Amino acid sequence: MKDLSGKTAFVTGAASGIGLGIATALSQAGVKVMLCDIEEEALAQAVATLKLTNADVDGVRADVSLKAELQIAADATVARYDKIHILVNNAGVGGAGYYGHWSDAGWNWALGVNLMSVIWGIEIFGPLIEAHGEGGQIVSTASIAGLISGGVAPSYNVSKYGVVALSEGLRSTLAPRAIGVSVLCPGFVRTQITNSLRNAPQGFVSTLGPLPTEGPIAELIKEFQGRVSKGIDPLYVGELVREGIEDDWPYIFTDTEFEPLIDDRFAAIKKGFDHIRERQPRR
Ligand SMILES: NC(=O)c1ccc[n+]([C@@H]2O[C@H](COP(=O)([O-])OP(=O)(O)OC[C@H]3O[C@@H](n4cnc5c(N)ncnc54)[C@H](O)[C@@H]3O)[C@@H](O)[C@H]2O)c1
Repeated sequence: MKDLSGKTAFVTGAASGIGLGIATALSQAGVKVMLCDIEEEALAQAVATLKLTNADVDGVRADVSLKAELQIAADATVARYDKIHILVNNAGVGGAGYYGHWSDAGWNWALGVNLMSVIWGIEIFGPLIEAHGEGGQIVSTASIAGLISGGVAPSYNVSKYGVVALSEGLRSTLAPRAIGVSVLCPGFVRTQITNSLRNAPQGFVSTLGPLPTEGPIAELIKEFQGRVSKGIDPLYVGELVREGIEDDWPYIFTDTEFEPLIDDRFAAIKKGFDHIRERQPRR
């Protein structure tokens, strides 16, 4: 989508961090942006701040892990802006529960916000983008953790691998329908992601039990928090996403820090083939 000016975008998780960076960068290019978030106050603040720059923006509150709320937000966006060209499935949470301490509630929360919302977003907004025939782009925020696994919350990796798989798979399906598909895989970005529990369902946080204060998991959490607090500027990420939309990048990365670990993963996968390379499968 070369000329973004005058187009409309729907951005989830837009009241904070990367989502706000994307909404800002798009609005600076003349895109009309409907910001969507679960946090009403932060959302109102974000919309008001962007309006001060004369951006054509509006806000709609929704919990994207609930399909009905996402549908209502889509209806509100059509009512407000008519055509929608760009969907940014960005809302996400850090996940919860490490081995031995995970719960159904934790998995449901991470998979609901990080993955089901993307599936439903594409299901609901895809036909709306197709309908006007002007083309469009779907960007979904996964993570480097959607390409390399490990860390404190397996539910986070599983949800983000799902977002990568969905995006990679839909690219060829949607290209003939004039919709580009990109997956955003950030490294560490300076946002509120380490405080994701602020948006967890009521009564859920207490089911998790206290986070460990010492030991390897506690060390990993501390390291993660430190890396995020010194992370990349979310507006820089938003500007990369804008470029990715303009040029239909399949993968939008923020930096090359984790590229060697991706090489390691592919090497390990290739090694798996080496074990059986010379054999003839029995059929
Ligand atoms: N910050 C990083 O280092 C990093 C790295 C890789 C990927 N990501 C991904 O980036 C995306 C944005 O996160 P961020 O880092 O900007 O964190 P953030 O906490 O600053 O922003 C996330 C936004 O999503 C909203 N949100 C949470 N649950 C929601 C729900 N159920 N419905 C609607 N909105 C909801 C929050 O209110 C918040 O405004 C996430 O998908 C995250 O997994 C972040």
